[in-house]
Amino acid sequence: MRKKIAAGNWKMNTTLDEGLKLASEVVHMAKDESLSDTTIIISVPFTHLGSVKKIIGSATNVFIAAQNCHQEVSGAYTGEISATMLQSLGVDCVVLGHSERREYYKETYAELGAKTQIVLAHQMTPIFCCGEKLDTREENAHFNLVKEQLSSSLFQLDAADFVKIIIAYEPVWAIGTGVTASDEQAQEMHHFIRETITEKYGESIAHQIPILYGGSVKPTNAQTLFSCPDVDGGLIGGASLDAQGFIDIARSF
Ligand code: PGA
Repeated sequence: MRKKIAAGNWKMNTTLDEGLKLASEVVHMAKDESLSDTTIIISVPFTHLGSVKKIIGSATNVFIAAQNCHQEVSGAYTGEISATMLQSLGVDCVVLGHSERREYYKETYAELGAKTQIVLAHQMTPIFCCGEKLDTREENAHFNLVKEQLSSSLFQLDAADFVKIIIAYEPVWAIGTGVTASDEQAQEMHHFIRETITEKYGESIAHQIPILYGGSVKPTNAQTLFSCPDVDGGLIGGASLDAQGFIDIARSF
């Protein structure tokens, strides 16, 4: 059985005080018995990682993620954060290739491939995002694009590494827009992603990889989305900034 995962992506939101309050609420609510076999991940700003890690403490179902990292180990890259630094803070996961980073910071397939490798080399879990813009879907090129995003950045990994990854399918037209993919659209793409992985790595590995859906997931639509057979949970932006709403989503499996 694959893990059930609710991952919050705070993006560039919250002051340190606000972030600590939000993290404390999430950690407290996650203690509820009903969530004991749900993996809850909070992806917080770099500045909050060390303090939020302390708040998580010994909680067994809450994990901490960074929202990016540089592909080099160290060096003259002013303003960047390395995988070594994240690992030294006890970070569990790193979100890579979010559409906002692909769009605004022009992250390339090659860079994302290198970032994935360095995150894995530092014993952290990449949460690798993929997904199409609206015009690509309207041209019916969304399957080809998602396949290209996966194969160009990930398919150089050997099976032992690939199996450690979490994939997040986030159609760009659904991110922060209030428009959610229908459960049919989500299931269709998640199934396609699993088939694409099967072609490359075989069925056993494809069945182990968690594939999250992201894009306007809310407490009101999470249950329908998470009931799709190939949807293993969500990457949640806006709705993860409210602890109760986020935990309600985590209870939607
Ligand atoms: P959203 O963001 O839930 O606010 O649409 C999702 C994401 O960008 O990860």
